[in-house]
Amino acid sequence: MSSSEPKAVDIMILNAWYKVGFSDEFETEELKRHVVCEKVLVFWRTAEGEVVGFDDRCCHKRMPISAGRFLEGGVVECPYHGLAFNSEGQCVKIPSAPGAPIPKRARLLSYKVIEQDGVVWVWPGDAEKIGNVRPPATPEIVSPDWEHIIGELHIKGNSVLMIENGLDITHFYPLHGNTIGQAADSVIEFDLTTGETNGCDSVTVTRQADNYPQSDDFADLLTHQQADSYSIQTMVGPGTIIAGRTLWPAGGRKENKDPKCLKNYHFLTPIDRKSHKYTYVVNMPKGQMSGRDPSVRAVDRAKELFKDVFAEDIWAIEKQQEMCELPDGEYREVLLKSDMALARGRKVLDDLYKKEL
Ligand code: FES
Ligand SMILES: [Fe+2]
Repeated sequence: MSSSEPKAVDIMILNAWYKVGFSDEFETEELKRHVVCEKVLVFWRTAEGEVVGFDDRCCHKRMPISAGRFLEGGVVECPYHGLAFNSEGQCVKIPSAPGAPIPKRARLLSYKVIEQDGVVWVWPGDAEKIGNVRPPATPEIVSPDWEHIIGELHIKGNSVLMIENGLDITHFYPLHGNTIGQAADSVIEFDLTTGETNGCDSVTVTRQADNYPQSDDFADLLTHQQADSYSIQTMVGPGTIIAGRTLWPAGGRKENKDPKCLKNYHFLTPIDRKSHKYTYVVNMPKGQMSGRDPSVRAVDRAKELFKDVFAEDIWAIEKQQEMCELPDGEYREVLLKSDMALARGRKVLDDLYKKEL
């Protein structure tokens, strides 16, 4: 890394879609406050069913609108002097000046919001830069054919460190050596592709290995211990990693015999350069049972297992964050061949970041 390249911990990209929550968290006319990329935002679902998002500062004296309340007609009243705002953010009432014209500029700054496949996304940057960029599809989250578990965690580390972690399975040993990982996973050859997903730059790494022994934990979740396996990790812009693994019994891949799979969404929402909200959704086909105990749903086993696995990742990322904050001095990072996906992902993110500077 040359000294002109930003470190992972320097980066914060505003022109991107970030998950703020799941659809069922946004009740009609209930105010929700979220911090995204150092912006304090307020969201609500209108009576018409649309989720809207604004800067949380009242345009009058910066009082948080999220501390306000709804009045008749779906307008939000600021708790300080009672200015009220409609679902377009326009001020529609000034109690200290009844009957007087309301200036057009008395409005809340608005942010673009998209609700799709059970996820609510916000674009905290310049709306004119959205172009054809859409949030990634997450159809399993709302499909009756899939079961899932969800975890949400506050991480004391830049979200880019989590993206680098998500693109890199060579950390499965030793970091996850007590859970899903084994050293042999790190030497499987990989393919790397870059492209576009819904208008976002994406990087995908895949690995395929036939007749290959799986860790006990993967064999538990995905049944087959001696297996043909396929794994995929895709970075979609700075806000999402999609990861999947499919196992077939050894020799079964070509005929797609008895496939067992999981598909994970990792949503990374920067709070600032030093922290982010991390949400994981582990999806498994309905009816997929534990290999160790076929009376237990695999997704229930995943719930226990991934709590430990993701705690290991978080431990590593928070340690990296601490070390990244030290002055570099003579220190130089050495990337390995196995870091090619990470390097490609980093390039995409660096370019997006530099474009915004
Ligand atoms: S600060 Fe909101 S009405 Fe005065
Ligand atoms: Fe990990």
